[in-house]
Amino acid sequence: MAKNAVITGWGFYAPSRVVTNFDLAKFVDTTDEWISSRTGIKERRFASDGENTSSMSVRAARMALDRAKLRPQDVQMVIVGTCSPDYLFPATACIVQSEIGATRAGAFDVEAACTSFVTALGVAKGLISAGTVQNVLVIGAETLSRLLNFKDRTTCVLFGDGAGAVVVEASNASVGVESVVLHSEGSKGDLLMVKAGASRVPATKETVEQGQHFITMQGGEVFKLAVKSMADAAEEALREAGLGLDDIAIMIPHQANLRIIDGVAKRLHFPMEKVFVNIQRYGNTSAASIPIAIAEAAHQGRLRRGDKVLLVAFGGGFTWGASVLEWFGAHDGMRPPSVLERARGTFEDVVDRVRPI
Ligand SMILES: CC(C)(COP(=O)(O)OP(=O)(O)OC[C@H]1O[C@@H](n2cnc3c(N)ncnc32)[C@H](O)[C@@H]1OP(=O)(O)O)[C@@H](O)C(=O)NCCC(=O)NCCS
Repeated sequence: MAKNAVITGWGFYAPSRVVTNFDLAKFVDTTDEWISSRTGIKERRFASDGENTSSMSVRAARMALDRAKLRPQDVQMVIVGTCSPDYLFPATACIVQSEIGATRAGAFDVEAACTSFVTALGVAKGLISAGTVQNVLVIGAETLSRLLNFKDRTTCVLFGDGAGAVVVEASNASVGVESVVLHSEGSKGDLLMVKAGASRVPATKETVEQGQHFITMQGGEVFKLAVKSMADAAEEALREAGLGLDDIAIMIPHQANLRIIDGVAKRLHFPMEKVFVNIQRYGNTSAASIPIAIAEAAHQGRLRRGDKVLLVAFGGGFTWGASVLEWFGAHDGMRPPSVLERARGTFEDVVDRVRPI
């Protein structure tokens, strides 16, 4: 029987270096007023020297595994969604797999820009319902500060660094990640991209001098398409889950711009009070934004067992997608089961946790 996929653990890591709009205005031709009013962003986190996408992923992953009470050696797959990996290859997920001691796990990266986390969640759901694995550690992580051109005020004020992670496990429960819809429009790829540094435009002295290894974006075009695409994807994911917007307890959108989030909510006639927003503190952390928001919403008690949650994202590619899931939550009040107990099925829980010892 196909299994459902439920989120049983979550965690996030935000670097300690806070960069406010006022800090940026000291070396970029911008103001707090401009950034706040156009985007909702007040500050973002930048990785310190020595921090990178894998190291932040590891911090978020450990928190998520701890919450799920899942031992690293029991993890069967690690997926990192990112567009700012440590290297072109090896995959950042492989570095994370090794660092956390997930000795039995496979690992790979997913790159769909800001839609990477929803995409990775869809892959995890597929792997679990096909019976390929019993659990997946899904991470969204970015070190975008290293891809920013601080001479381009139209982009450098928007992005930040961080990582979020969830543990997704097979369950016999009738609910879980109920739908994931994904879309792409590759003809618009050049509107938001990093042009040089890979195989098509290899890094040369000239590409570096011209700043072609930095993020470039035509923000207005992105803005227009983001609102419509995210709203359409949300409706499609709801249809696939057999639910309506009234069933949704909380929408957790990709945090790119408060005006985009507001536009999506308005288009869907969905109340902003039920939309989770933390862009003011982190800026756009691309693949990390939704899992960071999930972890924060859970910590703040805004996710209760049985809540229907709508995730929706849009990003470079272009890519966009949405997911509807029912929140399972932590094993509150229950003692951590040993792996042996789990394998014997003696742990009373809706999550069916049969995994190798
Ligand atoms: C980038 C974005 C905030 C720009 O907002 P906007 O209202 O469209 O602003 P515009 O690009 O029209 O620029 C308006 C003016 O502000 C100026 N400006 C741009 N960035 C500025 C900054 N950081 N500080 C001060 N002024 C700035 C522009 O130069 C322009 O000046 P001009 O009229 O004299 O030419 C907006 O387009 C956006 O959020 N787009 C989506 C971006 C995004 O989220 N991408 C990721 C998707 S996953």
